[in-house]
Amino acid sequence: MTDTPTSIDETAQALLANGYVAQRELATATFLALRLQRPLFLEGEPGTGKTEIAKTLAAMLQRPLIRLQCYEGLDLAGAAYEWNYARQMLEIRMAEEGASREQLSAELFSPRFLIPRALLQAIDPTNAAAPVLLIDELDRADEPFEAFLLEVLSEFQITIPELGTIKATHPPIVVITSNRTREIHDAVKRRCLYHWVDFPSAVRELEILRLRVPGAPEELARQIVGFIQGLRAMDLYKLPGVAETIEWSRALLELNALVLDPETVQSTLGVLLKYQDDIARVQGSEAARLLAEVRAAL
Ligand SMILES: Nc1ncnc2c1ncn2[C@@H]1O[C@H](COP(=O)(O)OP(=O)(O)O)[C@@H](O)[C@H]1O
Ligand SMILES: [Mg+2]
Repeated sequence: MTDTPTSIDETAQALLANGYVAQRELATATFLALRLQRPLFLEGEPGTGKTEIAKTLAAMLQRPLIRLQCYEGLDLAGAAYEWNYARQMLEIRMAEEGASREQLSAELFSPRFLIPRALLQAIDPTNAAAPVLLIDELDRADEPFEAFLLEVLSEFQITIPELGTIKATHPPIVVITSNRTREIHDAVKRRCLYHWVDFPSAVRELEILRLRVPGAPEELARQIVGFIQGLRAMDLYKLPGVAETIEWSRALLELNALVLDPETVQSTLGVLLKYQDDIARVQGSEAARLLAEVRAAL
């Protein structure tokens, strides 16, 4: 376990040492979230490094990462805890003769029969240190789930009717992400430090690329970043994220490309764009025009 950083610079350096290039505002939000023990709420386009920052924090602080992937229909049983009915049934069978009813029901709702899910694991009072709790893609969960989350986030506790209230000894380091397919309720946001994760500038994206795909030739890396930044200025249905930049670079390395040429771009567009309409728009003359622009600028 490592101590939390004591300044914004130290935060940025520690993130970088663990493979994450953070812009100043994000390093500031992260630093403050750690110091003030407030959840960090990250919103932005897919593939901009929101999930990655939680993973990086866990590695950097040497804490366990507990991940709650949100989805439609996620409820208490999936997020916090569930009673192990099968084991309870078995216990009832075995106790059918001996124990009294009261004894049995007290026994059946003891921690022995509880299946802890991510949220309960994160606030387990027996945790030796605060884990990193990643609540990923909260916008995928239904709104009622946010109300429940509120109690957990404000008190770092969960009340289980049959057992009582379970409260964290070390409040977890919480990172919440949203791809903004819908707005998250104000009440949740108010408990968090908010940061909008934007697409990186060309300079920063090149830095990420050097870090993540160290084998890419310099000229190729610059062209890749230039091309992708150009695509992001277009009116596409889904813009490529940093994840796509990295993926494309790896693909181009596999093809032994040293520089971008129209044919290679053409044949690998599917790594960058995942909608046929977008591919159709970029394919051919648009790609060639963009490529010429990139080459001229470098
Ligand atoms: N600032 C960054 N520094 C280093 N790697 C990054 C950064 N942003 C994105 N990445 C890379 O992009 C990938 C996708 O990021 P991810 O966190 O999954 O995106 P999101 O959660 O925003 O959809 C990560 O696996 C990581 O390799
Ligand atoms: Mg993500």
